Amino acid sequence: ANLIIGNKAIAPDGYKRSAVLAGASFNTLSFPGPVIRATKGDTLQINVVDQLTDSTMLMGTSIHWHGFYQKGTSWADGVVGVTQCPIAPGHSFLYQFPTADQAGTFWYHSHYSTQYCDGLRGALIVYDPTDPYRTCRFYARTAQVDNHCILISETTIITLADWYHLASPQQSLPANINSVLINGQGRFPGGPESPLSVIKVVPNKRYRFRLISMSCDPAFTFSIDGHPMTVIEADSQSVQPLTVNEITIHAGQRYSFILYANNPIGNYWIRSHPNDDGLKGYAGGINSAILRYYGAPTKDPTTSKASVSNPLIEANLRPLYNPAAPGIPSPGAADVNINLEITYNNDTQKFLVNNVPFADVPVPVLLQILSGGQSAIDLLPAGSVYTLPPNKVIEISMPGGSTGSPHPMHLHGHDFSVVRSAGSKQYNYVNPVRRDVVNLGESRAEDNVTVRFKTDNSGPWILHCHIDWHLEAGLAVVFAEDAPSVKLSNPPPAWDQLCPIYNALPPQTF
Ligand code: C2O
Repeated sequence: ANLIIGNKAIAPDGYKRSAVLAGASFNTLSFPGPVIRATKGDTLQINVVDQLTDSTMLMGTSIHWHGFYQKGTSWADGVVGVTQCPIAPGHSFLYQFPTADQAGTFWYHSHYSTQYCDGLRGALIVYDPTDPYRTCRFYARTAQVDNHCILISETTIITLADWYHLASPQQSLPANINSVLINGQGRFPGGPESPLSVIKVVPNKRYRFRLISMSCDPAFTFSIDGHPMTVIEADSQSVQPLTVNEITIHAGQRYSFILYANNPIGNYWIRSHPNDDGLKGYAGGINSAILRYYGAPTKDPTTSKASVSNPLIEANLRPLYNPAAPGIPSPGAADVNINLEITYNNDTQKFLVNNVPFADVPVPVLLQILSGGQSAIDLLPAGSVYTLPPNKVIEISMPGGSTGSPHPMHLHGHDFSVVRSAGSKQYNYVNPVRRDVVNLGESRAEDNVTVRFKTDNSGPWILHCHIDWHLEAGLAVVFAEDAPSVKLSNPPPAWDQLCPIYNALPPQTF
């Protein structure tokens, strides 16, 4: 299918601005972009067509498919500077990759500078026909929630996003958000009573809600008045049911939860509060959407937020399927240990990882590898590329508390096991949650978030802060994993159209 990228003026919070949007056609450009749906095992084939015309923002583009391993298809990962050059206006790029054994809640977004902050973000769901939370057959055995079988014919998606009245190229750090959009609708302080997202539920039914943070910056604390949430998925990994009444969700993260619509018929506030000083509270429907029972009047809720007695704690999440995830043996047994120290230089306004800011390079790391660069000293950006050997257990520790905390760190090409979470002093090598974005926490003294993964996927994979402003300011490294095995799959990408440099590289290496 085609995914058209174009410019259109929209007013999702009542303030009109030009945005960078995706649509199945130019006439259906929307924020968020269209939901892409697939079934486990499908191969996704998406032709991204750049029809951007607004020169006050970036006119090149790319799309990253957040959460997919891209095993054997690293060229389709969509990261400008790492796996491709930007798609130029008037050109298109065909992304083609198998979903393989992955299923769950994903999303897609521009991975070119801070372009997704201008709107280019959407949900991507991969259904699993044998999902234990979807079928009673498996449900009874493995995944009980209140002893009930949940049959959900339709997915309810809730996207959370920060929204800016200034285009991203005009922002300076720290960027101040103007509003929180829930399913693409919201209000800003002092603004009009713009319509809010309304999610309708049938009384006494149970629903699976898929919550996606498409944030460029803030973490959100999310809750629904009067309704506990039973978390069953984190970042496309099924987890054992865990009932909470507030979820803190960081940029790039996803959760599925079961909601039981067993309150009196009425309207209830859905709340998503950003950890951003500029946007406080819920007055006048700020930071809010509405949960409306069928049969309730069409009016705003009058409910209030309960005290947070039971917040989601990441260290309490347990994988549903694979307690001993691949490559997660006992303590001390990692093959490679890497410590990443994040600092900030006030003078250059750059973030540094182990003293090096990640900088843009004209030749994507993947093309450097394919043309013979195999070792860290050969690969650019200098000092930001780490080589990883194949079939090893890698442990990465990342002390918290640096400027701009909490940083949500996202690894491409893998999930990782979070053997130590922010806010936890314990290491869990037995049954840690697996996910693809982890919050590093706010305290240098207390937090030392530690993750493990196995190098079973050759390619150049970026690890970066998912606060897009921080990525732009250098908060990233690239792992050149098993560089000698990196190959192109069929069909090969149209790099000759993307990267002028492609034609200058030795042809035999392609
Ligand atoms: Cu969702 Cu590198 O990004």
